[in-house]
Amino acid sequence: MTHTDVAGAKAKVLVIAGSTRPTRICREVTEWVIAHLPSAPGLDLELVDLRDWHLPFDEATIPALGQYQHDHTRAWSAKVGGAAGFIFVTPQYNWGYPAALKNALDHLYREWTGKPAMIVSYGFQGGEKAAGQLRQVLDGLRMRTAATMPALTLPVEMRTEGAGVEAALLSFAAAVPSLEAAFAEFQNLFEAAT
Ligand SMILES: Cc1cc2nc3c(=O)[nH]c(=O)nc-3n(C[C@H](O)[C@H](O)[C@H](O)COP(=O)(O)O)c2cc1C
Repeated sequence: MTHTDVAGAKAKVLVIAGSTRPTRICREVTEWVIAHLPSAPGLDLELVDLRDWHLPFDEATIPALGQYQHDHTRAWSAKVGGAAGFIFVTPQYNWGYPAALKNALDHLYREWTGKPAMIVSYGFQGGEKAAGQLRQVLDGLRMRTAATMPALTLPVEMRTEGAGVEAALLSFAAAVPSLEAAFAEFQNLFEAAT
């Protein structure tokens, strides 16, 4: 059996854009990642933009209990709980990953546990420290994360000359083999689960 179920339905994978700041490039980077993943007939990829989710972290009980009082938490729970796996696309901020992404993770618990994950980072040095920190948190959530974590390096012109996101997307071509390797590992995690 593959990651499609017996009825042949595709497994839903949420590709989560981890940055929400007004001038972010995360949306374009996430779209680039989706466009450069090899075709996977058994998976149904959906971009999830954390900007679209109201997550004020206002529940009274710890998320692991699943006793959500607020509709916004229930909606996020249904979204994440309905997915079979996750690809996180995260920038590096001060050697870590964005607070918005940590907040989105910490709203829930059981909805994440046991599921396959893949991490793609980006930054002027590729964002490997952010990826490492996120990996540790996903381990804490008992997720099964692909060992390869593609790191997309932003071109120096973005810092020195204010070059736009187009320059970044062009420079990411070197990371495509790593992206393909990570995605193959990610797909294997679905196979292992069946
Ligand atoms: C608060 C902040 C901290 C940053 N820290 C780092 C860093 O530690 N390492 C790095 O390579 N880039 C760092 N950068 C550069 C970001 O990786 C780069 O600006 C990227 O475009 C941020 O993603 P976003 O535009 O989608 O938010 C930082 C950017 C911000 C806004």
